[in-house]
Amino acid sequence: MKIAVCGKGGSGKSTITALLAKELSRMGKDVLVIDSDESNYGLSRQMGVELPKDFTAYFGGKEKAQKDMMLSNFTHQFFKETWTFSDVPEGYYAEKDGVKLMSSGKIHTANEGCACTIGNIIRQFVEHLNLTENEYALMDMEAGIEHFGRGTDNGMDLILMIVDPSYESLALSGKILELGNAIGKPVRFVLNKVNDENRELMKNGVCEKAEVICEILEDDFIRGAGLQGKELSLEMESVRDLAKRIISKSATK
Ligand SMILES: Nc1ncnc2c1ncn2[C@@H]1O[C@H](COP(=O)(O)OP(=O)(O)OP(=O)(O)O)[C@@H](O)[C@H]1O
Ligand SMILES: [Mg+2]
Repeated sequence: MKIAVCGKGGSGKSTITALLAKELSRMGKDVLVIDSDESNYGLSRQMGVELPKDFTAYFGGKEKAQKDMMLSNFTHQFFKETWTFSDVPEGYYAEKDGVKLMSSGKIHTANEGCACTIGNIIRQFVEHLNLTENEYALMDMEAGIEHFGRGTDNGMDLILMIVDPSYESLALSGKILELGNAIGKPVRFVLNKVNDENRELMKNGVCEKAEVICEILEDDFIRGAGLQGKELSLEMESVRDLAKRIISKSATK
């Protein structure tokens, strides 16, 4: 199953991607985490590994890939056939506790150009990725909704939106549901940073037809790890339940 983890900036996408990946792995699943956020560097730290080499480098680097795209009038196919979990090349992923992390690519220098080529390669990658029942790909998306515009979500089986306690996030829930529905993908919602004060406001503020499948409490350990750039090594019952729902497919029914 391929799962896109999306939401507003700072809502907790990377945090929940890391926690869920570790949980799925503890449950005996093979997990590939795809860092598709070209701007933020946090996910590898949260997973406790070094940031792997940009996947774009496998295709000759961003500049070459961009040229290939332009010469083909943006139709260039980077993948000729389907890829399996184990086709991700050595050197392009980091691994810990049974979870592999790959990175689509980051913006490294000023004036290097936009991230469209990086996004294009990773979109084609997820479309060509063929997973078995025991394999899960979790894609940590860049903030906002551009990935829907790029078509990255077309290759996904489930869109998981992380909603944090902010008006913007609650308002975005309706747009993400609309975009997910438009491409025929199940969209499910995770309320994050929930506490006794905001719980009811969040439940009432999320869009009307939202299917909320998990609530993750505001947590001191997560906040501390986020502040200090530490690995997220905690286990949470709510995340365990989320993983179970995903595995049993009740999350997508
Ligand atoms: N349940 C939680 N309790 C407390 N703090 C949290 C929780 N979830 C996330 N955070 C904190 O919120 C901040 C943002 O989290 P995170 O980086 O995962 O968000 P993001 O959506 O990936 O952000 P970006 O859009 O920048 O990639 C971090 O400092 C993180 O530690
Ligand atoms: Mg992030």
